[in-house]
Amino acid sequence: MKQEQLEQLLLKMSVKEKVGQLTQFAGAFYMKHDDGTPVTGRIEFPVEDDMLDVSGSVLGIAGFEKVKAIQENHLHRSRLGIPLLFMADVINGFQTIFPIPLGLGATWEPSLIEKLQAVASKEASSAGLHVSFAPMADLVRDPRWGRVMESTGEDPYLNERFAAATVSGLQGRSETISNDHIGACVKHFAAYGLSEGGRDYNTVDLSERELREMHMPAYKAALQAGAKLVMTAFNTVNGMPASGNAPLLRGMLRDELDFEGVVISDFDAVEELVAHGVAENESVAAQKALQAGVDIDMMSLSYARSLSSLVEQNLIDASLLDEAVLRVLELKNELGLFEDPYRGMSVTNEQAVLNAAEHRKLACEVAEKSMVLLKNQNVLPLERNRSIALVGPYADNPDLLGEWSIFGNMEETKTLKDRLPDARYAQGSALYHREETLLLEALDVMAQADVIVLALGEGRDRSGEARSRASITLAPCQIELLKKAHETGKPVVVTLFNARPIDLTDVEPYADAILECWHPGSEGAQAVVNVLFGKTNPSGKLTMSFPRATGQIPVYYNAYKTGRPLPEGSEERFYSRYIDIPNEPLYPFGFGLSYAAFTYSNRRISQSELNPSSTLIVSVDVTNTSLVAGEEVVQLYIQDVVGEVVRPVKELKGFEKISLLPNETKTVSFEIDSEMLRYHHSDLSYASDPGLFHVWMDGSSVCEDEGKLTFTFHTS
Ligand code: NOJ
Repeated sequence: MKQEQLEQLLLKMSVKEKVGQLTQFAGAFYMKHDDGTPVTGRIEFPVEDDMLDVSGSVLGIAGFEKVKAIQENHLHRSRLGIPLLFMADVINGFQTIFPIPLGLGATWEPSLIEKLQAVASKEASSAGLHVSFAPMADLVRDPRWGRVMESTGEDPYLNERFAAATVSGLQGRSETISNDHIGACVKHFAAYGLSEGGRDYNTVDLSERELREMHMPAYKAALQAGAKLVMTAFNTVNGMPASGNAPLLRGMLRDELDFEGVVISDFDAVEELVAHGVAENESVAAQKALQAGVDIDMMSLSYARSLSSLVEQNLIDASLLDEAVLRVLELKNELGLFEDPYRGMSVTNEQAVLNAAEHRKLACEVAEKSMVLLKNQNVLPLERNRSIALVGPYADNPDLLGEWSIFGNMEETKTLKDRLPDARYAQGSALYHREETLLLEALDVMAQADVIVLALGEGRDRSGEARSRASITLAPCQIELLKKAHETGKPVVVTLFNARPIDLTDVEPYADAILECWHPGSEGAQAVVNVLFGKTNPSGKLTMSFPRATGQIPVYYNAYKTGRPLPEGSEERFYSRYIDIPNEPLYPFGFGLSYAAFTYSNRRISQSELNPSSTLIVSVDVTNTSLVAGEEVVQLYIQDVVGEVVRPVKELKGFEKISLLPNETKTVSFEIDSEMLRYHHSDLSYASDPGLFHVWMDGSSVCEDEGKLTFTFHTS
């Protein structure tokens, strides 16, 4: 449809029909009874029945048959024939499930993320979806928060790269969104990752400078990549819940970032303005949200129940309603729904696309690349001829898909035990509680093997939304099992299946090797086996620090400098330190081992001076000194030595993943220009300052200090 036709359509719409476009209801409201009769609008639907007939979008339902039936039924009832939009959370895959986003981050391969999101998009669109609520671009620093699993970690630059890659993968890179792609909705705008104490839905309060410096880059990158929608956050930003926050939504998002797409609230967030205490009732909540710039109300029903009368009473400017509706119509039009409300969907295509062999193959590859080898004392890779005891609550557990795998199929997911049929198996313990008989059985099995592979972790029931934890250790029963394994004197390999950084202080001393496997997806078990036996050499690197204790949280690599930095090795008191644990996390950002060994040498800089119009090149030679081929992520960090405001101790500014054969050396170079040195000053201006900078290139954020390079930036 042409823009004029959309505007004509808008003119024909009643207020109620307009309000309908701004409401999103759960798929269950549109379902049919078992006998096939439609229950549209008649099952515990807490709004006037006919509201469903004019509604604009549907949440969380997919599958050719269901979507087709709902859309058909809707078009039949809709006076103006406006098709429904189907939206859902396709976060790390639709039916073929990839690792959770925190694991995807550990690949340090944005192009791979784009590829798998294109697969997710193809599967989702074949099943009738039009929009995914991804990427979640929230920067995270607190592993108590269950939703860190949905983020790619603690670094603004990496998050930027992954957010953009996700959008490109979901939407495709062409001008229009083709039928095998879907729209991307970046969330949660803004700064949801900072919920105080890691408690979900909790307050966020941060300076505008910090918001712009650390949190905005990833949302912005998603918008620059063309994301069609933005979802508001549950939390407050500068004292106002995001879903009623005009400076944030109309000021920053629309005026400053020029976002022209659709803003949707998070689930019930409009109504929650009442609980937040910034609206007296649901009607005021609806009024404030629309005025603040929320176009679609996801599931709170506040718009459905209040907007019409607010317009009638002139409490809302009708033009606000019109502009929001037009944006929704434009999105439908961009997705081609007016021409074909089914977007070429067919049952044969759905069957051919879902879980296609090449998708599963990619899922395995990505899972292998997401795994992070945290420790290895000459035990991995496993030798084929050694007998293995496969023990632990994750050893025969198909809970590998992660919390957002709503369309995945856990029943059909192979477990480690399935993939290691020759190993001796014992469960050893339930996930969270001790069972004496299981433990005794495991002792027996472990006694008979040469090497013990423990599969430990925490399930999807302890991660994701509304799953904050005050303590992030493994359950005591699992630690007990680990200690028993260690007591056998046999090599112990711990494979970890979890969706947040765990405090591994009680694990590390008892394990000879630790492989962080995350919730690795549909082909996760096969991927673990491939890595354990060295078919694939692990190359993942953490994108979120693993703390030594819950009390150390938040701990992240790009912290601001303090006035009393602790000198290395100092035992003295009056420094910024803990008296009971080191300041450093147990495993830092950027860290991850390989079966190969890499040495960094000959770090060099093309010149020691930089000015606004020049660039300089830093280079390093990386050599594989081992007998196996491997991949290494070479990371570039810069420190601004003196800033107008306090600057981080270091910041990631570039990275490159390279493959190296045994004895091979490659030179990795990075270009540095003045734009990379910009930051937000106290007056919020974004600029670089003259002065001295330090540069590191290494395989982790904990860098060899002797490798430090320096240069001076001159502004004139
Ligand atoms: C609530 C979550 O916060 C959000 O991330 C998700 O997209 C919506 N529910 C829809 O499922």
